[in-house]
Amino acid sequence: TTNRTFTMLKPDSVEKGHIGAILEKINAAGFRIVAMKLTQMSTRDAETFYAIHKERPFFNDLVTYMTRGPIVAAILEKENAVEDFRTLIGATNPADAAEGTIRKLYAASIGENAVHGSDSDENAAIEGAFHFSGREMF
Ligand code: CMP
Repeated sequence: TTNRTFTMLKPDSVEKGHIGAILEKINAAGFRIVAMKLTQMSTRDAETFYAIHKERPFFNDLVTYMTRGPIVAAILEKENAVEDFRTLIGATNPADAAEGTIRKLYAASIGENAVHGSDSDENAAIEGAFHFSGREMF
């Protein structure tokens, strides 16, 4: 069945000029864009979005990274969207990511890993609603 996932092209992707190349791969993989914008997360936004990681040793670095510049936030739709998007982006650590995946091509490290992809349908809905109102979804 057709469903949705949520992604962010993280600050490193924007800084390096990789927005176009990453969107091209998303398009070529058959995802329809439901919502999309250039935006910047505040410290509070990032702390809320990543609350599940707040006890992790990398939490402060993660918040600093995700707030240091603009991101491209988007909701994407496709059959099997969550799983297929995670396949397209590759493993969290680019050193472990498969050839041709977005992280293999564009991520520098496990911390600065170029893109986000929701890990479940439930989180896709929560994360999408965090960034977009209903009027911004098409
Ligand atoms: P993501 O899986 O999209 O969401 C959690 C983020 O935390 C992850 O991407 C990385 O950016 C970051 N992260 C996860 N594990 C580590 C780690 N071991 N060291 C540093 N950052 C990490």
